[in-house]
Amino acid sequence: MTTADYTEKIPNNGDLHEDRRLQRALESWQPNFLHWWESMGPTLPTADVYLRTAVNVGREGWAHFDHVAMRDYRWGIFLAERNRGRRIAFGHHKDEPVWQKVPGEYRADLQRLIVIQGDTEPASVEQQRNLGAVAPSLYDLRNLFQVNVEEGRHLWAMVYLLHAYFGRDGREEAEELLHRNSGSAESPRILGAFNEETPDWLSFFMFTYFTDRDGKYQLGTLKESAFDPLSRTCEFMLKEESHHMFVGTTGVDRVVERTVQLMLEHDTDDVGPYGGIPLNVIQKYLNFHYSVSLDLFGSETSTNVANYFTSGLKGRWSEERRSDDHRLTDESIMVDAVTDDGGIGQTEVAALLGLNTDLRREYIGDCQNGVNRWNKIMESAGLPQRLRLPHVAFNRKVGAFAGIEAAPDGERISPEEWARRKGAWLPTDVDKTHVRSLMRPVHERGKIAAWIAPPRQGINGKPFDYDYVHLA
Ligand SMILES: [Fe+2]
Ligand SMILES: [Fe+2]
Repeated sequence: MTTADYTEKIPNNGDLHEDRRLQRALESWQPNFLHWWESMGPTLPTADVYLRTAVNVGREGWAHFDHVAMRDYRWGIFLAERNRGRRIAFGHHKDEPVWQKVPGEYRADLQRLIVIQGDTEPASVEQQRNLGAVAPSLYDLRNLFQVNVEEGRHLWAMVYLLHAYFGRDGREEAEELLHRNSGSAESPRILGAFNEETPDWLSFFMFTYFTDRDGKYQLGTLKESAFDPLSRTCEFMLKEESHHMFVGTTGVDRVVERTVQLMLEHDTDDVGPYGGIPLNVIQKYLNFHYSVSLDLFGSETSTNVANYFTSGLKGRWSEERRSDDHRLTDESIMVDAVTDDGGIGQTEVAALLGLNTDLRREYIGDCQNGVNRWNKIMESAGLPQRLRLPHVAFNRKVGAFAGIEAAPDGERISPEEWARRKGAWLPTDVDKTHVRSLMRPVHERGKIAAWIAPPRQGINGKPFDYDYVHLA
């Protein structure tokens, strides 16, 4: 069950060959996927890349590493092992057996949740497609491509569910996932953050830290789903997702480390002239990516999400580790709000309505860990500067704070003051131009760009100077 069958056209561990109809449907989607990959995927021509491919879903040794031509990457369908005794952990159907089929009354909602998740996967590949041309090292180039092929596989994971369980509607949605494009004027991706550009590697590292982490939390709620195939699919996706977050965490580590070195060496905060990225610019990029990622969690209160929970479609982060009744019909929660006097504060609502807030808070706590880690680099160097997460009301386009302006410290300010001061808080054209000016390709084995420190370790026990990528 856990071992993937690579003799098939579509590698899978789900006995796909036993369902000819499904197999044929997916095989007819496959060329469309490859066409999308060729036209919207990575633009840098490569001969081969040292990539990991999933070979089974077991706890140990699930990945195989080898040099492969990216077009020949074996995108497959992997579900975590089925737990036959699994029961619904929350909501109205709590303690009933999980579903192997889609209940008719929840079909539309489940399909919508899968489409929204599925839409983010190819979107990030599109956002990152030009980064290869300016990679700071072959090691980083390889990590970028690893993230890209796995986001492609996550698209496969969602398309599998659409094809297998949602009939004709599902097949149509699977086509749409290839037709919408990040940033497109006519048919953009569904969520705002996935239509933003990822024009440079600092943005890429911030994206993989903050926006991929949103993905981790969304997948974590879908992993709790009473619809067992969705749960098993997301559980395995989470395993791959952790590498994406590693790329973000250590990427920002290495930028901060290099900036700190330059600050000490030249005894100045303004490391721009010495080829570094000043801390205040790093802070502005952080502010941007964090605030657009907070928007991905939706409004503070949501009746849709309350219904998803009550129906068993989508749980909470770490649902089974929570010590409440997992139904939440009598609980309440404080959610962020603009108060009656116009201030930034909180208000009490039914816990079911506030589930987006609950998830966003779990996420914020996790984001803080990275900031603490980056601050240790400055602390160890004896520098007083620190990075910080801006206030939850800062730069929001979705939810309670969408209509107001707030400073990073959470003080409410007027639109005029926002217009005057936002250049101190969000990347300006000057900042972006400086960061872009540093983005020169370093495609030579063992070499690295001057704005970033090398990693402490290579990939899969290989050294930093390994030939991770062969360019075409
Ligand atoms: Fe993903
Ligand atoms: Fe990801």
